[in-house]
Amino acid sequence: MGNKKGIFITFEGADGAGKSQQCRLLASSLKNCDIPYVLVREPGGTPIGEKIRNILIDSDSTGMAEKTELLLYLASRAQLTFEVIKPALNEGKVVISDRFADSSVVYQGAVRDIGIAVVEEFNEFATSKLEPDVTFLLDGDPELFFERLDKKRLDRLEAEGIGFIEKVVNAYRGLAKRNMHRFVVVDASLPVHKIHNTVVKTLREDFPALKGLKGIEEYG
Ligand SMILES: Nc1ncnc2c1ncn2[C@@H]1O[C@H](COP(=O)(O)OP(=O)(O)OP(=O)(O)O)[C@@H](O)[C@H]1O
Ligand SMILES: [Mg+2]
Repeated sequence: MGNKKGIFITFEGADGAGKSQQCRLLASSLKNCDIPYVLVREPGGTPIGEKIRNILIDSDSTGMAEKTELLLYLASRAQLTFEVIKPALNEGKVVISDRFADSSVVYQGAVRDIGIAVVEEFNEFATSKLEPDVTFLLDGDPELFFERLDKKRLDRLEAEGIGFIEKVVNAYRGLAKRNMHRFVVVDASLPVHKIHNTVVKTLREDFPALKGLKGIEEYG
C-alpha cells in the first residue's frame, strides 16, 4: 500500500438512503472534469464477486447461516479489493464504492448477532487493512428511507419492518462517531443536488488532487 496515490471514496447508509444515486452523480462530475475514476458496488464489482452477489440475493438462499452470509460478503470484498480497488489506487485513480467494509460492520456485526469487533477484524483480513480515505454517510429518518424503497426491496424488508432500518441507521451513527477521521455525515433528506454539492465541496477542500472538481452542470 506504500505506493498508493489514488483516493478511495465510499458511500454508506441504510437501504434507500440514496447511495447509488450519489455515486452516479459523483462519477459524472469526475468524468466531466477528466479525472480518472472507477465506480464499483458491493457485493459484486468483479466477475467472481457478481457470482457471489447472485448467491446472496437469490430468493432460494433462504436459511443461509449468518456466518455464511458474512463470509460471502467478505469473499466478494477481498476479490474487489485485490482485483479492482488496489490496482486502481496504485494507478492514482479515484475509486468510488457503493458500500464497502462498513456495511458488513453494520449489517452483519451490529444488526445481526455476530458482533462489531469480529467483523472489523475479518474486514482487515479480507482487505489487508484497506480503509477509505473518506466515507459519506447518508443519514436520516428511517421512515423516509422506508418510503423510498422500491417495491422489490420493500417486499423483502417489510417482513422485518421499519425497526430493521432503525437499527441500521443507529449502527451507522455509532460507526461514524468512532471513525470521525474519515466519516462525513450528510443529511439524506436534502434534495439530490444539494447532497451532491456537499460531496463535491468536501472533496475539493480535503484533497488537493480534486481542487478543480465541479458539481455536475444541471445541478449548478
Ligand atoms: N436526496 C434524495 N431526495 C429524494 N429522493 C431521493 C434522494 N436520493 C435518492 N432518492 C430516491 O430514492 C430511491 C433510492 O435511492 P438509491 O437507489 O440511490 O438508494 P440506495 O441507498 O442506493 O438504496 P439501496 O441500499 O437499496 O441500494 C430512488 O428512487 C432515488 O431516486
Ligand atoms: Mg443502491
